[in-house]
Amino acid sequence: MSRVVLGVSGGIAAYKACEVLRRLREAGHDVTVVPTENALRFVGETTFAALSGRPVASDVFTEASSIPHVRLGREADLVVVAPATADLLARQAAGRADDLLTNVLLTATCPVLVCPAMHTEMWLHPATQHNVSVLRDRGVVVLDPASGRLAGADSGVGRLPEPAEIVGVAESLLSPDVAARVSSRDLTGLHVVVSAGGTHEEIDPVRYIGNASSGRMGVEIARAASLRGARVTLVAAHLEVLPPSSVEVRTVVSTGDLATVMADAAAAADVVVMAAAPADFTPRSTSGTKIKKSGDEGLSLDLVQTPDVLAGLTRTRPPGQTIVGFAAETIDDEAALVSAGRAKLALKGADLLVVNDVSDGKVFGMPDTSVLVLDAAGVRDRVAAGKAVVAHRLLDAVLQHRATAT
Ligand code: CTP
Repeated sequence: MSRVVLGVSGGIAAYKACEVLRRLREAGHDVTVVPTENALRFVGETTFAALSGRPVASDVFTEASSIPHVRLGREADLVVVAPATADLLARQAAGRADDLLTNVLLTATCPVLVCPAMHTEMWLHPATQHNVSVLRDRGVVVLDPASGRLAGADSGVGRLPEPAEIVGVAESLLSPDVAARVSSRDLTGLHVVVSAGGTHEEIDPVRYIGNASSGRMGVEIARAASLRGARVTLVAAHLEVLPPSSVEVRTVVSTGDLATVMADAAAAADVVVMAAAPADFTPRSTSGTKIKKSGDEGLSLDLVQTPDVLAGLTRTRPPGQTIVGFAAETIDDEAALVSAGRAKLALKGADLLVVNDVSDGKVFGMPDTSVLVLDAAGVRDRVAAGKAVVAHRLLDAVLQHRATAT
């Protein structure tokens, strides 16, 4: 069980902290809520105390015996601040210690995740942006706010990301390997394009050919790259998971659409990851109306092959671009898997290929996976872990490849 401190500062999104708290508790973490005095104008202390099952204090003097301000930060495995107002960011960046939350932030030696939420003007103000970059330079993980509805009639960038996303990132930071990589922001300056999910090939207005991909692996790669500072475009076919709020999302339906959008998105990218599961076959023609049953007759579909998106991208790639492919195989013998992977790597012209055995429902939609990362020389890495960890290890391989290729 991990010890998490959930800091809450005084913005309208403070009510969403209750959902973050509930999810952290459900995931089995021991959570102490430290609201600022203003946060308590939005959500009552009783709510936080009831949901966390622990006493709640805002200043260093209340409950001083049960909530020692130094120990709380020092003993935490993770500190999450959601929402973080412009004022909280300013106080944290300045190293102030004028309430319990800023005391915790000054004494914490664990990973710190800060989730800003505020009006667009406040977020974009040079003072706030400066504070964010000061915090990031110190290794604090600052989640980019989402775009969308803000308080009142406003809309724009500044929305608190969904609680599920905050908790997903928070939990990944409990892995020291992930936390170190995210803090380093070692993908800053790179544009990464990731495709994810399964394409749908339309048969008629109500039917399609699809596949079992949930898009989870591609979404985790997009999230990991964004957390490490890259500008990320996610080309999303059918996804069963939410895309990260900090990335640009371009949606596609069919493999044909995917080919068009990837060619455009990848034209100036530094790194391209083809994690999507494109349908390999599509109906030769699509019926404009619903195909009706006729007696007890079956139906034959005339299918044609779709374009190979990955092979097309490697043929037209700009200089210096790194291209990663995936290979889902139903081979459980490692030597045979490696040799099939190496053949596919060469055939498609990718720099790296992530190979996994998907037989027996082992991978699709699951939180964990087991992969081999291949390059032209052979097996570069072998990882069996949660998809967030696998995503970070793959990005390490991409950076290593780029370092040796230049
Ligand atoms: N891929 C692609 N376009 C397709 C099919 C696959 O770009 N029409 C990409 C996938 O995104 C993946 C890689 O090619 O990165 C390998 O996909 P996989 O399904 O394993 O290979 P296929 O080329 O479909 O070969 P096969 O199914 O015959 O093994």
